[in-house]
Formats: sequence, structure tokens, C-alpha cells
Amino acid sequence: MDVLLRINGREHRIAVDVRTTLLDALRDQLDLTGTKKGCDLGQCGACTVLMDGRRVLSCFTLAVAAQGAEITTIEGLATDGALHPMQQAFLEQDAYQCGYCTPGQILSAIACVAEGHAGSDDAVREYMSGNLCRCAAYPRIVAAVREASVRMGAG
Ligand code: FES
Ligand code: FES
Repeated sequence: MDVLLRINGREHRIAVDVRTTLLDALRDQLDLTGTKKGCDLGQCGACTVLMDGRRVLSCFTLAVAAQGAEITTIEGLATDGALHPMQQAFLEQDAYQCGYCTPGQILSAIACVAEGHAGSDDAVREYMSGNLCRCAAYPRIVAAVREASVRMGAG
């Protein structure tokens, strides 16, 4: 089936098997490998992207169902060479070790702030609980989200 996906402000027309997940379409057909495959079972959050500003698990979203939405991946966050405030905060707070979970953490964190769920460390821990980090960088991730929420005008 031909699908038209709008990703990071650009339209992409690709042919997919109707069972293809958005995650596999991004990584395997569009070479947008910043979105990571962890469990492929909807349990780790590594594949998180934004659809119309809402966080979704791209391993649990069919590519055909993503048509008509504005999809944002980690590749679409920096503008004119400047990192998104959440990316900058992760960098400054050293909020990663191996980095594999980081793209999903950052996309999820942006939505967490937009939802108004970054007002306290406890709220961040609660609303970021769907994003696992096997390196256990959680304290630094919470600090980064809290710092970015201030820079984004929500803290
Ligand atoms: Fe999608 Fe783990 S790869 S939730
Ligand atoms: Fe390694 Fe999170 S930084 S899994």
C-alpha cells in the first residue's frame, strides 16, 4: 500500500506492507535510524516519537495509521543547527550513558513538559516511567527534564 507520511516537516511517499510498523518504516525505509528499536513489544519506550505533539510508541503504531499526522523524530528537533532545549539539557546534565534509550527519552520528555507533567521530580518520574533506561541514568534524566521545562517556559 502506498502511504504518505509527514515527518519532521517533509512529506515521504513510500510503499509498505500494511503490517509495517511506523518504527520499521522510519528505520528501514526512510533511513531515520535515530528512533531506536528496543523491545519491539511496546514495553521500553525506546521507539517513542511524536504524532501531532502526542507521544506514541512507533513499534505499536502502523505506518498506515500514521498518515495525516505530523510526525516528529529525534532528527527533526534541532533547528538551524541549534539543539532543542531538551536535547541541550540532556547534554548538559549528562543524562545518558550508552545513549540507546536517549532519543525516546527526549521525545517523551518534550511531551511530558507539554502535558504539564514536569512540575516536580516525582511528576517527571511518574510520567516518564514508560521510558526505560538500562544504564539507569534516571537521576540525570529527571534533572534534564526539570531543567528543560524551565527553559521551555513550563517549569
Ligand atoms: Fe517500542 Fe520498546 S521498541 S516500546
Ligand atoms: Fe543506556 Fe539509557 S543511556 S539505556
